Amino acid sequence: MAPMCTPADDVEFPLLPSLIHLNHAGVSPWPRRSADAVCAFARENQQQGSLAYPKWLRIESELRELAALLINAPHADDIALLKNTSEGLSFIAYGFPWQQGDNIVSVDQEFPSNRIVWESLATEGVELRCAAIGMTDDPEQALFDLVDERTRLLAVSSVQYASGLRLDLARIGNFCRCRGIVLCVDAIQSIGALRTDVQAIQADVVVADGHKWMLGPEGVAIFYTTPALRERLRLTQYGWHMVEHSGDFERRDWTVARSARRFECGSPNMLGIHGLHASLGLLLEVGMDEVEHRILDNTAFMSALIHESEELELLSAHAASRQSGIVVFRRRDRDSAVLHEALRLHGVQCALRGGGIRYSPHYYTERPQLSRALQLAREL
Ligand SMILES: Cc1ncc(COP(=O)(O)O)c(C=O)c1O
Repeated sequence: MAPMCTPADDVEFPLLPSLIHLNHAGVSPWPRRSADAVCAFARENQQQGSLAYPKWLRIESELRELAALLINAPHADDIALLKNTSEGLSFIAYGFPWQQGDNIVSVDQEFPSNRIVWESLATEGVELRCAAIGMTDDPEQALFDLVDERTRLLAVSSVQYASGLRLDLARIGNFCRCRGIVLCVDAIQSIGALRTDVQAIQADVVVADGHKWMLGPEGVAIFYTTPALRERLRLTQYGWHMVEHSGDFERRDWTVARSARRFECGSPNMLGIHGLHASLGLLLEVGMDEVEHRILDNTAFMSALIHESEELELLSAHAASRQSGIVVFRRRDRDSAVLHEALRLHGVQCALRGGGIRYSPHYYTERPQLSRALQLAREL
């Protein structure tokens, strides 16, 4: 049965009627409440300056709590609010106690943020090994096959940005835990779309910017680390905000905060924090069971239509266990770049990725919009 469009969806996502927005794996539209929160924050700044600063601090700490709830982190203290995913990955890459000859195992299809930072460690004598997962039914085993006694860290995306392939993180986490290997997950393509449980997958690090499936603004990322890993990382940024007594400016002695706040060196991005706070509030209100259910339903619906169509070829996963919010396909008789431009001109906001067209609707996207977007892909 088609998912119901609740009145709240219309209220929260008043998108232009001429637009079919299928780019949540790129940059998402903000829900109404997030736009309202950012506008109210701007107005407050304009009219009152910092008068309401204590309230802003409350929003900031509530955001950590919402983020912890969203990913089932043991504690809000395990969450830092960073600029973006790349910053979080850089904290790991440049904080970890590498020895010359160590290696990192990853996937050959990763987004550049989850490749370049590890490649940059070549100057420290650390090797990046990338598993070719395109031609195998068992991508986890392809990763494991590259691991040896010098592997210190596995760096993977929960969902591949260009193919939508979902990895079995629980299996990877178990493998890593048994061997003392750090599991570092770029979860930007799954948090806010699929249920995330950092404890169940035994991840040491999970990081994601908020502007994709979490429906927030660009420039605020959630960065989860376990206390044990935090203790092993050398810090690479220092400032007033990352110390234990951060509000006590008279104090001359300092220690690094025990919590993940140690990664936040200075003033927070309060504007972005207000937006993401509202967006996560919405996702938790709808409930991640419901969000995931609707997103996977969208994917199954589109995948089946593409599969039945003579004109289109499905490039993303067929198996339900590998599917995510991302569907990638191509037109057999048309260049994908040309088709992408034609779709854009007809109001379909999507991306050119993975050798085809990437559609990434969210939980609130209505079924007729998906049908229409696929009809246009067949006919344009
Ligand atoms: C898998 C993945 N990681 C990271 C990013 C972006 O990283 P950042 O938050 O550093 O901009 C993207 C953006 O498309 C992505 O798909």
